[in-house]
Amino acid sequence: MKHFISVSDVGNVSALVAKALQYKLSPYADLHLGRGKRIGLLFLNPSLRTRLSSQVAASNLGMEAIVFNVDKEGWALEFQEGAVMNGTTVEHIKDAAPVLGQYFDVLAIRTFPSLKNREEDYSELFIKQFIRFAGVPVVSLESATLHPLQSLTDLVTIQESLVEHPLQGKKPKVVLTWAPHIKPLPQCVANSFAEWVNAWGGAEFVITHPKGYELDEKFTKGATIEYDQQKALAEADFVYVKNWSSYQQYGQVLCSDKNWMLTNQSLQSTNIAKVMHCLPVRRNIELSDEILDGENSLVTRQAGNRVWAAQAVLAEILNACK
Ligand code: CP
Repeated sequence: MKHFISVSDVGNVSALVAKALQYKLSPYADLHLGRGKRIGLLFLNPSLRTRLSSQVAASNLGMEAIVFNVDKEGWALEFQEGAVMNGTTVEHIKDAAPVLGQYFDVLAIRTFPSLKNREEDYSELFIKQFIRFAGVPVVSLESATLHPLQSLTDLVTIQESLVEHPLQGKKPKVVLTWAPHIKPLPQCVANSFAEWVNAWGGAEFVITHPKGYELDEKFTKGATIEYDQQKALAEADFVYVKNWSSYQQYGQVLCSDKNWMLTNQSLQSTNIAKVMHCLPVRRNIELSDEILDGENSLVTRQAGNRVWAAQAVLAEILNACK
């Protein structure tokens, strides 16, 4: 694996999931692998889980991790080719990225979309410019359209749960359901979850959302789209809850119907479904307290598994650099 930006960078999804679960059993099995190597974790946005789980993962592999909050501590970066820099940006990515490539063996970057210009966001200019100019492997800590470390974690969590509670020969039914939110959020987690579940192929996959919230088909192709949440949830084994803003009416909030918030009542038709969310979650807006605090919630375990997913990815990259 040279870079880790999307599921396309992964040769075998099931093998990567298995590797993450192995690290959960033996966190220090490859403590030697990253000795003398350094990773730069660059954040253009806030983070709790991604930042800390990546640091722990690097440490488990014997790597040094240095966090740089670019948005607060760095110069404002310019990404546009040929820009006349007479505005607010101070340093071009063409100058900054090669310098960062001198300091680090691996660069990991979190950016967010503007949610104003779909073409620009979906071009993934920021992360592509880092790859182009840094000269070292680049790992996405969430980009404008995808969150691959989160999605790998999600599959790790589903697989772990299936090992503990086998479904007797049938594929699990996995439902991704849209949930309300007070502000427009990126489509990254939903896009990414969809493309990873599709690439994994181990589930019957249904996506449910109000009309107008259709995601880019590039990511969802292969999934069943169902606009009636209750129909979608019938016999579900795993329910993944996430808000996203509209892709078609780009970045807009089109629905605030509280009935889309998942409650124990809405879970009654499921197969005692496990409930997942990437966090942070707006309690009693996206998901009810009763679910989050109940025994079917996987969210804390899911967030814990971020370490093993990050460790599996970093190990793949370090092995490829040998
Ligand atoms: N799920 C996730 O990426 O969490 P953070 O934004 O806290 O990193």
